[in-house]
Amino acid sequence: MTLVELQTTSMAVGGEAVAREDSGRVVFVAGAIGGERVLAEVVDERKSFARAVSVEVSEPSPDRVVPPCPHVAEGCGGCDWQHIAEPAQRMLRRELVADVLARSGIVDPVVVAGPPLAAAGLRTTVRGVAGPDGRFAFRRRRSHDPIQVDSCLIAHPLVEELVAEGRFGSAREVTIRVGARTGERMVVVGPKAVGVRVPDGVQVVGTDELYKGHRAWLHEEAAGRSWRVSAGSFFQASPEGAEALVSVVGGLIRDHAPAAQRLVDLCCGVGLFAGTVGAGMAVTGVERSASAVADARHNLEGMEARLIKVAMGRWRPAPADVVVADPARSGLAQEGVAAVAATGAGLCVLVSCDPAAMGRDARLLAAAGYRHVGSTVVDLFGHTSHIEVVSGFRRDRSVGDAGA
Ligand SMILES: C[S@@+](CC[C@H](N)C(=O)[O-])C[C@H]1O[C@@H](n2cnc3c(N)ncnc32)[C@H](O)[C@@H]1O
Repeated sequence: MTLVELQTTSMAVGGEAVAREDSGRVVFVAGAIGGERVLAEVVDERKSFARAVSVEVSEPSPDRVVPPCPHVAEGCGGCDWQHIAEPAQRMLRRELVADVLARSGIVDPVVVAGPPLAAAGLRTTVRGVAGPDGRFAFRRRRSHDPIQVDSCLIAHPLVEELVAEGRFGSAREVTIRVGARTGERMVVVGPKAVGVRVPDGVQVVGTDELYKGHRAWLHEEAAGRSWRVSAGSFFQASPEGAEALVSVVGGLIRDHAPAAQRLVDLCCGVGLFAGTVGAGMAVTGVERSASAVADARHNLEGMEARLIKVAMGRWRPAPADVVVADPARSGLAQEGVAAVAATGAGLCVLVSCDPAAMGRDARLLAAAGYRHVGSTVVDLFGHTSHIEVVSGFRRDRSVGDAGA
């Protein structure tokens, strides 16, 4: 075991603190905060950088706190920022986003905080495995080993009850999902739902059944609508989080494209943005997951909505005034940005869940003529370094611009 004493200076996307050795080599230190002096164990060494884990903090940051969840001390790998005070977590997310945007060539990017969201008790989905006696387990930090837990600080109470009381046989994957506002609950167990014991009323489905075409879903309520969400479909981390995103996306459309009549919801999932900020507009939803498209069709019934099951790179773009794009972690990339530009939209609202991908997309959008007008960090993932950010990009001279 190699131990090194380090002075950390800042935080990096990914959640680790950054230190520089006398040799100039950068060390990313998990469990530390920028501005601390720590003793750290080196766990991975490369030519130009190393990774280490803080084992002792001799000069703590004023933002350091005792992790509120006891399972952090036991090694649970679920939350990587519980040692950072909540206000500092929020500030760090904004700083990291501003830094990524600046590195992407945006001068003095405007980055603000979104609607306040609780860090604990909101998450309606958790993923883990079955531990040795069938109880729910997360993965241990930096390991594939299970760590059984009987509570989860960040989970909604309806999820937490199943974490504490459910038995999941010897499942290699366990996904617990709930509708916080409907009370509906579902457990997806892989590879087979064998030996599962959960309270009455909780749907249990095996991933083997899903592969064979079996459909299972629950409902959630958010932003004044009911959402059917199938086992294979994405939904935001909580209904409160979904509402925060809808309000930020809606605000950008009101400010920058108030006369918009045609909206493309790119990577529309179950139709969250189409069904809310798209109300009153002609909406096109583009989504590659069959299960999400089926849900979106159900959820948007009665709206003027066209739903197309296709990967964004293969979609033949239709003219639009606004594109709301909420891609997976890999971002829009060249193919998605080309699709946005081909719609002629005057406004692109990009919802990013990975800051590095956001930076790449910002660069590509700038090259396609879209100017950054501001970003809002929505703290969907309290106690973690996971960052969700909504950014507006405006094309000032565009054929399809219905904006102000
Ligand atoms: C982060 S989710 C957002 C879904 C939706 N906007 C919401 O808020 O619930 C990303 C969605 O993009 C879809 N997706 C991923 N890659 C895609 C691609 N290449 N083309 C179209 N959709 C894609 C996924 O299936 C998923 O539903």
